[in-house]
Amino acid sequence: MPAIIYDNKPLLKRLSEELRAEAVKFRQQHQRQARLAQVIVGHDAAAELYSRQLVRSCRNIGLGCATFSFPFETEEQELRKELEILNNDPGNDGVVLLLPLPAHIRQRAVTEVLRPEKDVDGLGPRNAGNLLLGFPNFIPSTADTILTVLQDTALPVAGRHAVIVGRSNIGGKPTALVLMRLDATVTVCHTYTQNLPELTREADILVVSVGRPGLITADMVKPGAVVLDAGINTVNGQVVGDVDFAGVKQVASFITPVPGGLGPLTHLTLIRHTLLGPQ
Ligand SMILES: NC(=O)c1ccc[n+]([C@@H]2O[C@H](COP(=O)([O-])OP(=O)(O)OC[C@H]3O[C@@H](n4cnc5c(N)ncnc54)[C@H](OP(=O)(O)O)[C@@H]3O)[C@@H](O)[C@H]2O)c1
Repeated sequence: MPAIIYDNKPLLKRLSEELRAEAVKFRQQHQRQARLAQVIVGHDAAAELYSRQLVRSCRNIGLGCATFSFPFETEEQELRKELEILNNDPGNDGVVLLLPLPAHIRQRAVTEVLRPEKDVDGLGPRNAGNLLLGFPNFIPSTADTILTVLQDTALPVAGRHAVIVGRSNIGGKPTALVLMRLDATVTVCHTYTQNLPELTREADILVVSVGRPGLITADMVKPGAVVLDAGINTVNGQVVGDVDFAGVKQVASFITPVPGGLGPLTHLTLIRHTLLGPQ
């Protein structure tokens, strides 16, 4: 039987309504609009698209979103200083650093500057450490969105085998920790993984966050599996995920489409973090 194709609209609607009410409360309490500052370095098409969408989502909820764009040549030290300024501005309630950074800027060297209470995408070492230890924190938006979708759909997770393809600090790694927190048995795959199809076929829950369009094909999926596709890629002007959607939807029991799946929900996750703080 073909999979249930996840429709994000009801959750988007409910979360938007809840967050609009929170934005109003924030304005009343603080006598100003909440504001998210996003930092983008260089020109990456996917990051620029994400940035424009984030501005729209913030406006729609009633938050300010200030974009700080820096040229590709920006030095690491200079970016650290700029982030300090944004951190120290009491008008910024969250600071998001859009990835990827140019290769000459070390991610660690700049994310460590983010104050944990403003690091709403959970990129810095304090938030990452708290996630590892299971303490309240900001969970990176993709992983936190996966958590929200699993809770919203009430799909069973405890005791299931979750296989995650991708181990980046913003994607696979925090998602593995979230699924472990939900009592799944977790396997994480990456470019050194041998026999990827053998492992993905073991998954009751398959999460893919790689950035390779069509990497996961129907023969790599266990019949009846839950498939969550966090990939966002552009192929011939079309946005597609990391999963071969047409083939995999015939095998899985549940699948998140791209576009229309996790992506737009991640903006609301960042907005929730900015308005409500770590949870
Ligand atoms: N839904 C959202 O809101 C959202 C947010 C951010 C990013 N994304 C999307 O998520 C995708 C991943 O982004 P990212 O920033 O996490 O990418 P990334 O930093 O490039 O990491 C990619 C990960 O995938 C692994 N990988 C690459 N090719 C593989 C292969 N053939 N087999 C197995 N593993 C492979 C890499 O392994 P190694 O570690 O061994 O190199 C790495 O761990 C992209 O499409 C991006 O656009 C979505």
